[in-house]
Amino acid sequence: MELNIAVLAGDGIGPEVIDQAVKVSNAIAKKFNHKIDWFPAITGAAAIEKVGEPYPDETHEICLKADAVLFGAIGHPKYDNDPSAKVRPEQGLLKMRKKLGLFANVRPTFTFPDLIEKSPLKKERIEGTDLVFLRELTGGIYFGKRGRLDNGDTAYDTCTYKRSEIKRIARKGFELAMTRSKKLCCVDKANVLESSRLWRETVQSMEKEYPEVKVSYEFVDAVAMRLIQWPNSYDVLITENLFGDILTDEASVISGSMGLMPSASIGTKTSLFEPIHGSYPQAEGKDIANPLATILSAAMMFEDAFGLKKEAECIREVVNRSLSEGFVTEDLSNGKKSYKTSEVGDWLASNI
Ligand code: IPM
Ligand code: MN
Repeated sequence: MELNIAVLAGDGIGPEVIDQAVKVSNAIAKKFNHKIDWFPAITGAAAIEKVGEPYPDETHEICLKADAVLFGAIGHPKYDNDPSAKVRPEQGLLKMRKKLGLFANVRPTFTFPDLIEKSPLKKERIEGTDLVFLRELTGGIYFGKRGRLDNGDTAYDTCTYKRSEIKRIARKGFELAMTRSKKLCCVDKANVLESSRLWRETVQSMEKEYPEVKVSYEFVDAVAMRLIQWPNSYDVLITENLFGDILTDEASVISGSMGLMPSASIGTKTSLFEPIHGSYPQAEGKDIANPLATILSAAMMFEDAFGLKKEAECIREVVNRSLSEGFVTEDLSNGKKSYKTSEVGDWLASNI
């Protein structure tokens, strides 16, 4: 098969972890007889430096033409510490999500048998966790009207949702639930927020189309607690943009590290695959970042964008082997011998 993949390394550790995912993907292509053409493009702070804009039109064109986008990370401390900066790397990510119509961010949470002891949570609580968040990605407070009043002394951000936006993500949730244990949780704050009441009303109105799916409605604050108390009680969760952002970081603790969690963003155009972690600027250039989340995102890409299940399984298998044999970066080594980002990438590629 011919695979045309746009590759957006971005900022911080982005380029380092992307390099490893490219190595592993190329090894997969070789083993399974595929031809990958990579189309690199700039984004984030790196793009601001070059062309003054974090998601340039040329980058968008490259993404549109590709069959899938593999994405590293975005963000730079220079902008974090300057609240008055007019152009910010994160705007590039939001613009990209919007322009590619990536309304559903799929964030699975699962445990790795070899890392279960690493989680700060008790083994008996988290063992067997296998849940998926579907985070709405192109609406809500991230994209609502915002501004300042009173000479800057008052600030506001607004959360707006259309019924149609809720419906399309909810449909993905119902469909995903049908392929799994037929349990769907709608996470909202319907006891306070009008937008949440519309979420609840919309999801309720769709229940009759999926009579086999058992839907629960839970408030986000309660989910934040139950998620780490009884993660096994969840399967598919759908939620709005900001709640999903927060809960998926929390959920990564169940797996043992943010450096492990992949994601897929799907929508109306090219799908995008990226680790859920950020650009980790403190580690930039040190060759120490954990590349597994990006490599597992590449696995999701093979499976979801190209229907190549065996290829995806092969990547997951070799990742599990690196964990059980301790061929890992320092964040996972428990004070034992650890390996560089690039060494882990080489090891995985050669073991494919
Ligand atoms: C994520 C990130 C982004 C978000 C940031 C970098 C804008 O935290 O993908 O979860 O908030 O969506
Ligand atoms: Mn986040």
